[in-house]
Amino acid sequence: MADQAQRLREMVWAAKSTARVLAVSSGKGGVGKTGTSINLSIALSQQGARVALMDADLGLANVEVLMGLTSLHNIEHVIQGEKRMRDILVKGPAGIRLIPGSSGLAQVADLSENGRRRLLEGIDELQSEFDYIIIDTMAGIGRNAAAFAASADEVVLVSTPEPSAIVDAYAMLKTLHRMREDIAIRLLVNMAAGDAQARAVATKLATVARQYLGRNLSYLGYLPRDVHVQHAVMQSTPFLLRYPDAPASQAMAQLARRLHTQQTAPAQQPQSFLKRFAQSFGLASNG
Ligand SMILES: Nc1ncnc2c1ncn2[C@@H]1O[C@H](COP(=O)(O)OP(=O)(O)OP(=O)(O)O)[C@@H](O)[C@H]1O
Ligand SMILES: [Mg+2]
Repeated sequence: MADQAQRLREMVWAAKSTARVLAVSSGKGGVGKTGTSINLSIALSQQGARVALMDADLGLANVEVLMGLTSLHNIEHVIQGEKRMRDILVKGPAGIRLIPGSSGLAQVADLSENGRRRLLEGIDELQSEFDYIIIDTMAGIGRNAAAFAASADEVVLVSTPEPSAIVDAYAMLKTLHRMREDIAIRLLVNMAAGDAQARAVATKLATVARQYLGRNLSYLGYLPRDVHVQHAVMQSTPFLLRYPDAPASQAMAQLARRLHTQQTAPAQQPQSFLKRFAQSFGLASNG
């Protein structure tokens, strides 16, 4: 046990990584995290980035279903030591790679030390091969859901204009802030009626964030409520590919460009997903 912890520490601190790890999360469920993760990944890939999309959302409408893919192996096989991460990657549309999820991730905070080490090693394998690792997370502020988000370089926090979604987004913001004050969080307002409504949501959340948490919440932008998104879901096809000219697709392409040009400050991007992930479970040393 002690030996394993030591090896994990060495691995964590020796990690050289390059990918920008971005978690898509929310307080309330059903606000559009999975759709955002998939289509943002595709948009970034279309703009020239190498993108891996990790499915850490265990709902029924998961990444595979929404992309019309099926996989033989998933992250569970990596955690169990049966497969390497690169062996479970599935080719997705527009050149993205999918890391299929499994219910094993639901209890990521309770994984055995070996399981955690294999998960970390797996993510480390990908760090040098991709520009972005996008993680589609579970909704909610439970410690498993928050573990991934708080370990990422950046969080895209998704809310809709609905009051209950805004309240839950704030709860998530608070949880993430308490776990890691320096984490970069950007708000994405989904299913907005338009620019004015989305900005009003952003202002509301930024105001309470400043007032009660003393932190900034930057605004990434919004996606309009667009019937093409629902149509694409029915066809198990990403809306960006099926309806490239739809308002939601145009907005997504713009968000991806903005994200790509808005690199986080160097202090916030020490490329240490591994370190933070291990730290959140009390595994990493101070070195
Ligand atoms: N911009 C949009 N316009 C219209 N409908 C949308 C939009 N975004 C999402 N939806 C609808 O909301 C549904 C839920 O989206 P999605 O599965 O991406 O949410 P989620 O946050 O991942 O949910 P969960 O918390 O269950 O994982 C979609 O099936 C789609 O019908
Ligand atoms: Mg989802």
